[in-house]
Amino acid sequence: MIGEKEGDGMPYVDVEGIEAVEVQEGKRLVLAIEEDAGVDILHRCGGYAKCTTCRIEYLEGEPDKMTKAEFEVLERKDLLGRVRLSCQAVADHDAKVRPLATVSSTGAERPGRKPEPEIMYLSLSGSKSQPETGP
Ligand code: FES
Repeated sequence: MIGEKEGDGMPYVDVEGIEAVEVQEGKRLVLAIEEDAGVDILHRCGGYAKCTTCRIEYLEGEPDKMTKAEFEVLERKDLLGRVRLSCQAVADHDAKVRPLATVSSTGAERPGRKPEPEIMYLSLSGSKSQPETGP
């Protein structure tokens, strides 16, 4: 259960079925799930809000805002309101999450390209930029 531990102010990420772990504030959530919680979450596109394989369900602590890139891909794939993208979120508060696609649950050979430390958006022209915050 998140919020029960006394820490030094760093956020906890509690992946369902795994003990909550304290993570560096501002760390990309997909990396916190993979590196800190040790879950083999998929991130096929490398964290660019394209593949939606890093999808999670928030059980607690869902942020109100999302990046424009997350909004657009979830809307396009009819996933808005059903899942969130862990590559488009940072660990800046306690949260409990359920990863929905992992290497072990899907039989994938590998999780995908390693996401960069910062949330990035890849435009259709291939240029990288910081994403805007969506609606
Ligand atoms: S959408 Fe591809 S890793 Fe998040």
